[in-house]
Amino acid sequence: MNEPYLIQFPRIGKTIEGYISVAEGENLPFEVKRVYWTYFTPESIQRGGHAHHLLEQILVAVAGKIVVNTQMPGGKVRKFILESADQGLFMPKYCWHEMQYSHNAVQICIANMVYQESDYIRDYEEFLKLGKTVNA
Ligand code: TYD
Repeated sequence: MNEPYLIQFPRIGKTIEGYISVAEGENLPFEVKRVYWTYFTPESIQRGGHAHHLLEQILVAVAGKIVVNTQMPGGKVRKFILESADQGLFMPKYCWHEMQYSHNAVQICIANMVYQESDYIRDYEEFLKLGKTVNA
């Protein structure tokens, strides 16, 4: 699917004993190659500000709150609020994304490939020029 969307992960357990959530198998739209996490991001900072040629990933706020603005080439800006540890945001390739974090946010990123700087599109003008051609 060429649009970002929320994934609901299973929530195992009860309020009195706590929960387990899991990302595996049919819950995942790609084969996982890498997991990394981000934390201690000041609330005043906006992160992201790029798209990728090949990288697809799922963001999960395992703690705190993350506001994610996304845009597909030629598409509208969409706003997602991640604040539940059993939800993930799938972002397909060519998804421009900008994130803001609460002070206590811990973000896990589940990715389909290893880190590669050459895969980034960091120039918004360049992103806009992609138009609808890559999102057909
Ligand atoms: P970036 O992906 O731009 O972070 P964010 O989307 O959270 O704003 O990465 C920030 C910097 O960290 C950039 O210089 C690339 C570097 N980096 C790595 O060295 N390894 C990694 O795995 C990642 C994701 C980033």
